[in-house]
Amino acid sequence: MVEFALPKNSQPMPGKHFSAPGATHVRVFEIYRWDPDSGDNPRIDRYEIDMDHCGPMVLDAILKIKNEIDSTLAFRRSCREGVCGSCAMNINGRNTLACTKAIAEYSGTIKIFPLPHMAVVKDLVADMTHFFEQYASINPWLTNSAEAPVDHERLQSRDERAKLDGLYECVLCACCSTSCPSYWWNSDRYLGPAILLQAYRWLADSRDDSNAERLAQLDDAFKVYRCHTIMNCTDTCPKGLNPAQAIAEIKKLLVVRER
Ligand code: SF4
Ligand code: SF4
Ligand code: FES
Repeated sequence: MVEFALPKNSQPMPGKHFSAPGATHVRVFEIYRWDPDSGDNPRIDRYEIDMDHCGPMVLDAILKIKNEIDSTLAFRRSCREGVCGSCAMNINGRNTLACTKAIAEYSGTIKIFPLPHMAVVKDLVADMTHFFEQYASINPWLTNSAEAPVDHERLQSRDERAKLDGLYECVLCACCSTSCPSYWWNSDRYLGPAILLQAYRWLADSRDDSNAERLAQLDDAFKVYRCHTIMNCTDTCPKGLNPAQAIAEIKKLLVVRER
């Protein structure tokens, strides 16, 4: 019989266990740990948390671990209100924002990993460099060649403004892009759902007059057309947005645009 042996450097390290002595209301968190400076392989650490002395959200438990149990745990967070997008991570197999997910929404052990298919900087911190370079590539600002009015803003009708609903709320957390199989395999050239939703946000803005240039830049076999309407992006967005629809709108504009 053929026997397979994994190479030594592919074996996970044994994880550490942190108990909560005396606690009567305990929840268990298993968290991915990897410190490239240590030279060790990744491991999964197990933390028992006393819920009688912890806030209700998953981010509260992570903060409690950092503050009281294990200060070496690395993660990002800022607003703890679902508006900065920095606490994106994979919780029990789903990309989401840790600050908007209640611990009570999960049963059993809560397993936390960094966003999938991203290079890891340390522990739960994903390397977002390429993602934000892609964001910069779409010129994510208003462009209008007409002189700006001196005594009022560039105005929109209510209907024009309503076209931005479902787009402007994006917090660039990357939960959608990192749940997209097309982005996993082609992120070097495919822009992914988050950046494409942002691209459509400017295409849909009545005050912006550079749609021709924006569409010409997007008209590429990989940048847009690697979307195969798998819908993981829309399914996972913690803000309830629909990047797949935004991508479909871009494809429609590309079909009808004047060349
Ligand atoms: S569309 Fe949703 S999941 Fe994607 S980056 Fe924006 S807020 Fe995050
Ligand atoms: S709909 Fe497109 S962008 Fe969304 S997950 Fe599927 S392939 Fe990715
Ligand atoms: S901490 Fe800002 S979105 Fe979670």
